[in-house]
Amino acid sequence: MIDRTFDDYKALIDEHLMDFIPDIDQKSITLYDSMRYSLNAGGKRIRPVLLMAACEFCGGSAEEALPYACALEYLHTYSLIHDDLPCMDDDELRRGQPTNHMVYGDGVATLAGDGLQAAAYEAMQRDMLLYFDNFDALKSRIRAAYEIVKGAGVTGMVAGQIADVEAENKRCSKELLDYIHITKTAAMIIGAVRAGARLGDCSKEDLENLTVYAENLGLAFQVCDDILDVEGNQELLGKEVGHDEANSKSTYPALYGLDESKAKLRQLTDAAKDALAEYYDNAELFVDLAEQLCSRVY
Ligand code: IPE
Ligand code: IPE
Ligand code: MG
Ligand code: MG
Ligand code: MG
Repeated sequence: MIDRTFDDYKALIDEHLMDFIPDIDQKSITLYDSMRYSLNAGGKRIRPVLLMAACEFCGGSAEEALPYACALEYLHTYSLIHDDLPCMDDDELRRGQPTNHMVYGDGVATLAGDGLQAAAYEAMQRDMLLYFDNFDALKSRIRAAYEIVKGAGVTGMVAGQIADVEAENKRCSKELLDYIHITKTAAMIIGAVRAGARLGDCSKEDLENLTVYAENLGLAFQVCDDILDVEGNQELLGKEVGHDEANSKSTYPALYGLDESKAKLRQLTDAAKDALAEYYDNAELFVDLAEQLCSRVY
């Protein structure tokens, strides 16, 4: 059962985020500094909060889920550092601060992303090594790690990122746009929720309902991000706006217009909430999160 708020989980993540980064040698301290810079630059921590909340929703412990929640935030942060590089979206502002490559240069920023990706795998594997004598606990950890890695991987986020880059300056089909959004963004959100559920030893039914929630929330998340790039506030977002149009990106507003994009966001939000309606107040955190996301553009 969930008896904590979004902010409680976020505080837990913020407190422990650096705990699972290996002790980096003084000779490669720039690597550590640049990784820490982006991790500590702020960030809403939506993915690790979803992971820990799903874990407790299914009966597990958020504290035990920390290595996986932090690993997920490392992977997400790596994806943002690489996404901002001049060879990708070429952005100068992220989480209200200059982007990693603006501070450390392109080479170090690339390696900070690589380092965060490796640190994520190391954090999860190190935790698994502690459970060799407890097969049930090990099994749920292996399953959780698989959900996370799959969401970030070559059929998830990375697949979406290449499709996104290749769709620049093109009029892509609605089908391809959904593929981009589902892979580059929804996949890691689905991975977050399913990993948490696995760590909490979920029932089959809970896993199915949480997955439908996450699929809808994940797509809503990128539709919302696209809309905010058109009409959001740079100060509040902590990143530059108007860049999708400047980069000729394939986005929801570009293909459907703002009104239809907002209607789609509303529809996806309702579908996310409906997926957990049978749990009433027990699913309040998930339902409120979906509604809050939607209300950012309304
Ligand atoms: C930004 O994600 C990248 C997208 C998938 C749109 P967030 O909006 O969760 O970014 P942070 O972590 O809060 O900076
Ligand atoms: C999400 O898409 C990218 C990632 C998977 C990292 P965007 O390129 O739209 O994200 P922002 O707007 O730069 O945060
Ligand atoms: Mg991008
Ligand atoms: Mg970008
Ligand atoms: Mg965007």
